[in-house]
Amino acid sequence: MAKFYITTAIDYANSNPHTGTAYEKIGADAIARWKRLQGHDVWFLMGMDEHSMNVEKKAQSLGMDPEKYCDGMEPKFTELWKALDISYDDFIRTTQKRHIAAATEFFRRVHAKGDIYKARYSGLYCVGCEAYLKPADLVEGKCKNHGTEPQKLEEENWFFRLSKYTQAMIEHIERNPDFVKPDVRRNEVLNVAKEGLEDISISRATFKFGIPLPVDPAHVMYVWFDALINYISAVGFASDEARFAKWWPADLHVIGKDITRFHCLLWPAMLMSAGVPLPGQVWGHGWVHYKGQKMSKSTGHLLDPFDVINPQPGNVRFENGDTPKIEAIRPCGADALRYFLLREVSWDRDGDFTWEAFIARYNADLANDLGNLLHRTLKMVNTYCGGAIPAETEAGGTDADMVAHMDALPRDVGALMDAQDLSGALGRIWDAVRRANSYIEEAQPWALNKQGKAARVGAVMTNLATAIARISALVYPFLPSSAGKIREQLGLPPKPEGVPGAWAALPAGHKVREGAVLFPRIETEKKDAPAAGKPRGQGGGAPKPK
Ligand code: MSP
Repeated sequence: MAKFYITTAIDYANSNPHTGTAYEKIGADAIARWKRLQGHDVWFLMGMDEHSMNVEKKAQSLGMDPEKYCDGMEPKFTELWKALDISYDDFIRTTQKRHIAAATEFFRRVHAKGDIYKARYSGLYCVGCEAYLKPADLVEGKCKNHGTEPQKLEEENWFFRLSKYTQAMIEHIERNPDFVKPDVRRNEVLNVAKEGLEDISISRATFKFGIPLPVDPAHVMYVWFDALINYISAVGFASDEARFAKWWPADLHVIGKDITRFHCLLWPAMLMSAGVPLPGQVWGHGWVHYKGQKMSKSTGHLLDPFDVINPQPGNVRFENGDTPKIEAIRPCGADALRYFLLREVSWDRDGDFTWEAFIARYNADLANDLGNLLHRTLKMVNTYCGGAIPAETEAGGTDADMVAHMDALPRDVGALMDAQDLSGALGRIWDAVRRANSYIEEAQPWALNKQGKAARVGAVMTNLATAIARISALVYPFLPSSAGKIREQLGLPPKPEGVPGAWAALPAGHKVREGAVLFPRIETEKKDAPAAGKPRGQGGGAPKPK
C-alpha cells in the first residue's frame, strides 16, 4: 500500500491546548489510524509553533527566555496528546535546528527565484491572526476571527511576491477539485484568489524571537512563512533527500477553517516559488463551540480536555448553569471525548460541546448500545456455550439479514472514511451496533436455550461474537483504547490487523472472556429516583440467561 503523510496545524506555544485544538488532533488521529488499518505506510506529524510575537510577549511577561518558556510548554501539549491516544510519529518544534536549517534554505531558494523584495508597508495588524487584515476581515472594526481590535502598524519589511502566483493558484484549485476540502472552503479560497492575491510581508524587525533572514539578519522570518515550512523540514527537506522523496508531498494537511488562506494560497505559492511539489489535499475543519462561542485562546473561552476525560466536582456545568450531582465522579476516559467530538461535530462544519449532549451520547451510545451489546453477548456465550464459539450451528431466523448487514459494514465505513465523513462513519458503525442488539431481541437466545435448540443458540452466539469482532476493528481508529478492551474480552489481539474483509465467522472453539464493564453509566441523578425515559444502564438491558 502507498505511503500516507498526514499533518495537523502546529499549535502556538503561548497557551495551553484546549478542546477545540484537540478536536483537530483527534480527527487527524482517526484518519491516520484508519489509513494504517488499510495497510498504508503512514507518517503522522504534529508540532508546536514557537516564533510568534505572542509567544515572545508571553515569555517576557513571565520574565523568561522565550525558548525556555517553550520548553516548559511542550509537555502541556504532548501530555495531552498522549492522554488522548494521539498516535503521531513526530512532533516538530520550529525552534529545532532541523527546522531552522530547512527554513533558511527554503528562504534562500525563494529569494534566488526573485520572489522576495524589501518595502515599506502600513496596515491593520491582528496579533491573534499574526497577519495584516483586509477590510473584509473586519466586523465593526474588530477581527472577525478573534473579536479584537487590530493595531495600526507601519514597517519596512521583506515581502514575498504572492501576487505573482494568483493565476497559478486559481488554475491549481480549479484543476484539482480535491486540493481544498470540504467544498465550502474551496469556494471561499477560490473567491479570495479571484479577488487577486497581494504580496505578503514575510519578515519582522520589531522582535527578535525568530529565524534571522540570511539576506538581512536584522530581520526575523515572519511566523507564517516560518511555520508552514515545518511540514517539509520534518521529513528531511534540504537535509535527507531520500527521506524527503519518500514522504513529500504530504497527502493531507488537516487544519481549522480560520487558517485555510495560509495553507491553500500562501503555502502552495511558496512551494511553487521554491520548486517543491504541492501537497495533495488541505482539509479545513470547522470549530468547536462551547456555551455558544468558538473556543479560543485569545478570548479565554476554553474547555480543558482533561476536565472531560477526568471530570472534577464542579466542572460539569449544564447550559443553564446547573452543576449536576454526578453520583460518583469517575473518569469518562479519552475515548468518550474522542467519540463525542467526532460523532457530534461533523468534520466539515462547526459544532457544540455541551455537557448535556456529552452525557446523553455517552450513556446512550457507549454505555447502552455498545457496552450492553458486548456485555450481554459475552454473558450468553459464557452461560450457554461454556465461553467458546460452539461447533454445532444451525442457520435460521433473521441470521441472513444480520450477516448481510455486517458483511457490508467495512465497505460502507470505508466509503465514508474516503470522503472524510468521520461522523457518518461512526453513525454507520452504530447502525451495526444497534442491528446486533435488535438481532438479540429477534433471536431470543434465552428462549432457544430453554427449548433445547443448542445449534440455533450456537449460530446466534457465533454471529454476535463475529459481528462485535468486526465492529471492534472498525471502531478502533475512533476509540483505540476501548476497541482494544473489547477485543481482549473477545479473545482477540487488542490491535486489529486490518480492515475486515468479507464476513467470516469466528472459528469453533475460539474462547471469549468476560471483563470489566466498559462504559459505566454516568448518573446525574440519584439511582433511586431515575428520570422517566432515561436509557437503561449498562447491564440493566442484558437479558438474564435462563
Ligand atoms: N500556529 C498556527 C498554525 C500554524 S500551521 C503551520 C495556529 N495555531 S493555533 O494554536 O491558533 O491553532 C491550532 C489549530 O487549532 C488550528 O488549525 C486552528 O484552526 C485550530 N483551532 C483553534 N480553535 C479551534 C476550535 N475552537 N475548534 C476547532 N479547531 C480550533 O493557528
